[in-house]
Amino acid sequence: MSAIIVVGAQWGDEGKGKVTDLIGQDVDYVVKFNGGNNAGHTVVVDGKKYALHLLPAGIINPKATPVIGNGVVIDLDVLFQEIDQMDAEGIDTSRLRISSNAHIIPSYNKIMDNLSERSLGDRLIGTTGRGIGPTYADKMNRIGIRIQDLFDESILRQKVKSALEQKNFTMEKEFGLEPVDVDQVADSLLQYADRIKPMVFDCSLEVNKALDEGKNVLFEAGQATMLDIDHGTYPFVTSSSPTAGGACTGSGVGPTRIDRVVGIAKAYVTRVGEGPFPTELLDQTGEDLRQAGGEFGVTTGRPRRCGWYDAVVARYASRVNGLTDIVLTKLDVLTGYKQIPVCVAYDVDGKRVDEMPADQTSFHHAKPIYEELPGWDEDITGCRRFEELPVNAQAYVRRLEELSGCRISVVGVGAGREASIERTTLL
Ligand code: GDP
Ligand code: IMO
Ligand code: MG
Repeated sequence: MSAIIVVGAQWGDEGKGKVTDLIGQDVDYVVKFNGGNNAGHTVVVDGKKYALHLLPAGIINPKATPVIGNGVVIDLDVLFQEIDQMDAEGIDTSRLRISSNAHIIPSYNKIMDNLSERSLGDRLIGTTGRGIGPTYADKMNRIGIRIQDLFDESILRQKVKSALEQKNFTMEKEFGLEPVDVDQVADSLLQYADRIKPMVFDCSLEVNKALDEGKNVLFEAGQATMLDIDHGTYPFVTSSSPTAGGACTGSGVGPTRIDRVVGIAKAYVTRVGEGPFPTELLDQTGEDLRQAGGEFGVTTGRPRRCGWYDAVVARYASRVNGLTDIVLTKLDVLTGYKQIPVCVAYDVDGKRVDEMPADQTSFHHAKPIYEELPGWDEDITGCRRFEELPVNAQAYVRRLEELSGCRISVVGVGAGREASIERTTLL
């Protein structure tokens, strides 16, 4: 039996989809525990590319049961569009299971997401506009709509009505919009009730049973540590808990059952949306990294902001998640640089700071202190053993390992499932 959590160690898009797919070959369940269709995961198998948003990336694996846990927020239109798309591509989605406690993203929360960004003006977050923040806010505010409400029509209508009392006030009085009609929203949700019913289950019960039976379970995060509502660069974060603790609350599994926590980190760093990013490169080097790494969002198509590896962020992610392993992805993208700077600490208003500052103002003032590591020119995309990497690439990985507070168990050298160098097995 093995329970393994996969989390993002930076600001997202580290390659969690690829790694989930890679480890997922040997697991029985893949449980998505947070976020929604703000995520964009790319999986490349035998040269064919799959883009997943709401469905767990583990759905590509024909053996595993894919699960959407209670910590996820679900846009029902998107769910069924993705299911239909996967079916059309020959991926079997019939094993998908969905927690009855997961929350639904009603259409009005997509409107609220965009209105909230508008009222923030130049302090906007740069959200994906998918209604994620307002839906988690409703959950905490106890006015959310859950999957199980689809099976009790009168309760559903009452809940939509009470949620809309507040939202319609904002839409009409603050923004001069037409109010949203309660029955129209309820009807649009109810149309999915029959189709979703056979997939709905008790996530906590089933996943714990699977662990009791000695099955392997992988918990798959959306987003990342630095986007975590508690531990990220608040308020420039998402509204869920993408860190390791979120896997437990987001699926109903206790922390004593978890064996390993794997953090995915790129060999450099990217960020989408607004917020502080100490190692960001605003010059041609940043543009070169963006082109070489294909750094454009899977969900919104936005160009990703790019910068050098930040070991302070990596150490922080190791601590907050209790990482047992790091998978370092996209090492191949760094080929061709004479020197590669790595951020080892920050200069905050003239003082050296080695750990993540505990307050936001200091983090906004943080300037990277770099160590320069020698680069390599050889094409590394065909390397499958660590010793096959050029010595400078090996030294780069080893130095990152020393600086990041956790061993680097796998190194990614290409987008395909096979383009991975395993130093330590993950399962
Ligand atoms: P996720 O959101 O963490 O699942 O990551 P995304 O899928 O949004 O972005 C990661 C991108 O990098 C995808 O296009 C992957 O196919 C690609 N990728 C993952 N690992 C590697 C790697 O080791 N090398 C290269 N060149 N690309 C990779
Ligand atoms: P994956 O799973 C990168 C960012 C958005 C925005 C902030 C809040 O592919 O790594 P939200 O819509 O969640 O309220 O937006 O979080 N963001 C991501 N950035 N990768 C993601 O997912 C993200 N999901 C949300 O750009 O800055
Ligand atoms: Mg992504």
